[in-house]
Parts: sequence; structure tokens; C-alpha cells
Amino acid sequence: MRFRVIQYESLPEDLEQRLHQNCEVTRVDSLSLMQGEEFRLVLAEAEGLIGVGQKVGPEILDLAPKLRVASTISVGYDYFDVDEMTRHKVMLMHTPDVLTETTADMIFTLILCAARRAAELHRMVKNGEWTSIVGPEHFGSDVYGKKLGIVGLGRIGSAVARRAYNGFNMEILYHNRKVSEEAEALFNGSYCSLDELLSESDFICLVLPLSDQTRKIIGPAEFDKMKPEAFLINGGRGPVIDEQALVQALQRGKIRGAGLDVYECEPLPLDSPLLNLPNVVTLPHIGSATHETRYAMAECAVDNLLGALQHRSTRNCVNPGVA
Ligand code: DGY
Repeated sequence: MRFRVIQYESLPEDLEQRLHQNCEVTRVDSLSLMQGEEFRLVLAEAEGLIGVGQKVGPEILDLAPKLRVASTISVGYDYFDVDEMTRHKVMLMHTPDVLTETTADMIFTLILCAARRAAELHRMVKNGEWTSIVGPEHFGSDVYGKKLGIVGLGRIGSAVARRAYNGFNMEILYHNRKVSEEAEALFNGSYCSLDELLSESDFICLVLPLSDQTRKIIGPAEFDKMKPEAFLINGGRGPVIDEQALVQALQRGKIRGAGLDVYECEPLPLDSPLLNLPNVVTLPHIGSATHETRYAMAECAVDNLLGALQHRSTRNCVNPGVA
């Protein structure tokens, strides 16, 4: 049986072939309804969706009465209206696990880069501005032995904590929905309130999904609680930080620096004040962006899609009650 599927992101060739062997695939660049009548006709027949980075809510779902599975090539699923998907009996599949270690590596890159001012000093060398031995105006901050506060101790947060504890002898604080027994055993992690974590940590690392509860969880009041020598690292979703408050905190020296992979608006607009602040490391949302991991995510998304369409598996389903 061949399933009718809309694909809105490219896939590695072998995975593309696998999809075509099992499905009748319509390839589109986006899920925009502005594409016109032809796209609406395809939606009306579609049983599956596979792709990433496009909003899926009632306007799409109402036009897709046969849709059973949406498979996102990402762990985050904030582009999807999960309640609406459940109401429409559409299974939402995502790709956890395969990107955990790679994303933790990137978050650690941000910690090190921000602390040692690596991006800023790299630019100085490339610009031919390294003219004498560096002095205190270019010194960074130690990472080894410092206190790391993790907000959101899921798979990725724990992988960051393991690196920090085992490799950098860091003391680990965490704030999460619930206390984790594993955290104490694996990296001597201490659970604490958000306020306590903000006021005590040298590195505050946000690894949160985006939801109504986490949106702008870090705003002006939270920056007021941080130490002036603290660094804020965000490797989850941009809108969990009030970006204007972050800019002010950096400009006014309320914190020492930041390392960001995600932003309120992506790609980062060219007029963003973040671009002119030397004490911010800005990466272009590359948490999982390695050849190996992006392949594994695509493979996982294809497996998820086919497994769910063929009623073989509900593994990696965000709303398993639908199945
Ligand atoms: C994810 O998988 O959610 C990453 O942020 C890439 O979008």
C-alpha cells in the first residue's frame, strides 16, 4: 500500500528513495496555503507530512481530512499546534535521542567560546589587530571548576551536565519540573529554585522547549538576579528569553556575556543589537547541525513516518493517545 505524503524538506538521497518506495510523494518548498488551489488538492488527499520548520495548525489540518501522521525532522515541535493535531487525530512524531550528544557539544562550545571570548579574539586576529601580547582587556573567564546552572534538565541538559561534571569539574545546579534522582548519581546535580540558580550560577544554561510556560521565562527581573560575572547560554528556543531585556543586561554590564544559538526571530535580523555586542557569541541555530546527526534525524523522521502510517510503531510520538 502506498501512502500519499507531502514532503516539505529535502532528505538524503537514500532516504528519499525509501520514502518514494513506500509513498506517493508530493514535494513542496513550504506548507504555505498561498501556493494556491493545487496545493489544497494535495492536502485534501495527504495521509502524511514530513519536513521541518513550518507552522501546522488548524488552517492546514482543516484542509487535510485524511492526514494521520506528521513527522518533524526535529526534536522541538513548537511549530505544531499539538492540541489541534490531537483533536484532528493526527499523530505528531519527532526525533529525540539522536541529536542529544551533538547538541550538548554545541552548547559546550558556546560556554567555552563565551567565557574565553574566542569568537571576538578570533575576529581580532583575522582583522590583523593582534599587534602585541594580549593584556587584561582581552582576558576571559575560567570555566573549569565553576558553577553551572541548567534550566531544563531533559536529555540534552543532562548531557551538558555530564560534560561539565566529568570534564570540567563543575558544580551542577539544575531547575526542572521535577527532581531527578539520576542527576545526583550521574553528576552530583543539586535541584534548586529558578531564583537560587540564577543568583548562584557562573554559567546559566537554558535548554528549554518553547511553551506558554517557558516563553520569556528570562526577563528583566531574572537578569537582576544574576551575578555580574555570569554568562547566559541558550541552546533551546530563542523566545524563552526576553531578547530586549538581554540586550539591556549586556549593555549595562548586568551579566558578563552570552552565548546564543537561538533567537526570538530567526534568521537574526540584520538590525538586531545583538550583532554589535562584542560579549555575545551568535551561532545560527546549529545545535544538531552535523552531517552525522542531521542524517540520523532524517532517518529517524522517515522511520517514524512509515512506522506510524503502517501501524507498526508509535515510538517518538508526541501525542500517543491518538494512535
Ligand atoms: C530541533 O531538533 O528542535 C533543533 O532545534 C533543530 O530544529
